[in-house]
Amino acid sequence: MRHMRFGQLPDGQAVDLHTIGTAPGPVLELLTLGATVHRLEVTCGDGVRRNVVLGHATVADRLASDAYLGATVGRYANRIAHGRFELAGREVVVGTHDRGNSLHGGPDGFDRRLWEVVSAGADHAALRLVSPDGDQGFPGELTAQVRYEVADGMVRVRHEATTDATTVVNLTNHSYFNLDGDGAGSVDHHLLSLDADAYVPVDPTGIPLGEPVPVDGTPFDFRAAAPIGPAVRSNDPQVVSARGIDHDVLVRGEGLRRAAVLESPATSTRLELWSDQPGLQVYTGNFLDGSLRSSLGKAYRQGDGIALEPQLHPDTPHHPDWPSAVLEPGERYVHVLEWRFD
Ligand code: GLA
Repeated sequence: MRHMRFGQLPDGQAVDLHTIGTAPGPVLELLTLGATVHRLEVTCGDGVRRNVVLGHATVADRLASDAYLGATVGRYANRIAHGRFELAGREVVVGTHDRGNSLHGGPDGFDRRLWEVVSAGADHAALRLVSPDGDQGFPGELTAQVRYEVADGMVRVRHEATTDATTVVNLTNHSYFNLDGDGAGSVDHHLLSLDADAYVPVDPTGIPLGEPVPVDGTPFDFRAAAPIGPAVRSNDPQVVSARGIDHDVLVRGEGLRRAAVLESPATSTRLELWSDQPGLQVYTGNFLDGSLRSSLGKAYRQGDGIALEPQLHPDTPHHPDWPSAVLEPGERYVHVLEWRFD
């Protein structure tokens, strides 16, 4: 493990960058700000080493951005309608900053916090964050830990959390992939396959409308590998309203299993996403509008990356029949995901 100073927060605290892994295997650069995946360099199918995730050049760019590039998002990834819900008989009110809803843990989410490196070696690093009781409105002091590990051709990310009072937890990693390399342009030609037979339609603010529906005959049908471009240009009202795909799909099966495959014919690079979560938020970079810059200074435009975010289904506090995000004292939240490259 190598580390260096990446930058500093406005109050002067240092943001460090840690590197794990060795070429020709994956080399992962992590930031203590947001326990973020800053760069992920892999050997592509054509033999060329490329960074296949989007990232910002500086701390200031990152703090000014609302794209969550590579960040660990929490305490509750995705949306909670109107930022209000009932938990253990009382009403919880959390920060709202996305069209009236809570998104990714509130305005000052885990992606904006300095995480402490609690262990690190050549091939792994573990980062910890203690989120106080009442943080963004969420009850209970939550201790979260994210452990990154690099092993032959793959990256494993293990999220864990414990609490001292009843709360809700839904952590994920918000990396955007471009298998032709960060800044290579659109991923429209990437082939996506999803191990999912149903998806959750949403209202214009991204809140689930109700029950999941079959993907059959919709642009969300990626049961067989298909290019992303035609789907995000479909006239399906769900796609039009979200300006692309920004939806939760129900991953078939249980336990750690394959959830998605992303492949670029241009560089012959293939990524499998494995997850133990019931849902996967597929987000095609719809809000990237040229205003954010990459770590190489290039503008990110719509569709320049795709985020595949394993998690619980969105807005679970309002859907008691869906797998629950409630965490009680004495319990341990665990979420494992893997990025496997061929
Ligand atoms: C998530 C959301 C999107 C968007 C991005 C960040 O994936 O579902 O609507 O907010 O985060 O820009």
